[in-house]
Amino acid sequence: MKPFDEEVKARIVANAGNTALGSSAYNFLKDSLNPGYSYNFSWLGRPIIQYPQDIIAMQELIWSVQPQLIIETGIAHGGSLIFSASMLELNAACGGPSDAQVLGLDIDIRAHNYDAIKAHPMSKRISMLQGSSIAPEIIDQVKARAAGAERVLVSLDSNHTHDHVLAELEAYAPLTSVGSYCIVFDTIVEDMPGSMFPDRPWGPGNNPKTAAREYLSHHPEFEIDQSINHKLLISVAPDGYLKRIA
Ligand SMILES: C[S@@+](CC[C@H](N)C(=O)[O-])C[C@H]1O[C@@H](n2cnc3c(N)ncnc32)[C@H](O)[C@@H]1O
Repeated sequence: MKPFDEEVKARIVANAGNTALGSSAYNFLKDSLNPGYSYNFSWLGRPIIQYPQDIIAMQELIWSVQPQLIIETGIAHGGSLIFSASMLELNAACGGPSDAQVLGLDIDIRAHNYDAIKAHPMSKRISMLQGSSIAPEIIDQVKARAAGAERVLVSLDSNHTHDHVLAELEAYAPLTSVGSYCIVFDTIVEDMPGSMFPDRPWGPGNNPKTAAREYLSHHPEFEIDQSINHKLLISVAPDGYLKRIA
């Protein structure tokens, strides 16, 4: 390991024990979620509903994994699809897979979003399926697409209830290739006050983190990559970066 990499690693380990920094990060998350901080950003012109720290983590993963296929649940305005496609385009420009694709799933792809995604220069790397991500006919189509891909990365960001995310994990986590990641977004719900989600079906005790915990309890082929949590500190996916290790 180069000295620079060792220094980064040591800083990340130190972050884990830095209670002042951890508490500042927690307070920032708590105070920024309801004002809609994650809705303030765009990627190559399309709104992306993410925190910038998580976008950087995804860039690092897409570079290191060099996936041929990225499966994403939850399209919304298409920002995360355009982001992933643009990272695959950069990978290709740097000698990575030339034909890598993103497959997006959403129960409701609004016409204006669909048209804007289709009109985007990155659309050549994107395909979309409309339907519930846990509907058997959608799962079958995704499995068929993944069958030919050597390296697959999965991102779950749709309905954030425990049962839905657990069903998504059962359907799509097994498609994650060894060494790649299944990222479960909005695990942060578990760590926030229950009063923050009055009009949502999810909240503490019923959310992506509780689903990921249950899935991990009987899937030892995955582990939480704690180094990503400790690096980001500000993330809507704490304990949600699941690495496939076997
Ligand atoms: C948080 S947004 C996705 C944000 C997007 N990944 C981004 O970063 O810009 C959640 C999306 O999940 C979709 N959704 C909700 N329930 C779903 C389901 N059962 N199956 C698939 N998508 C669903 C919603 O329609 C919405 O577009």
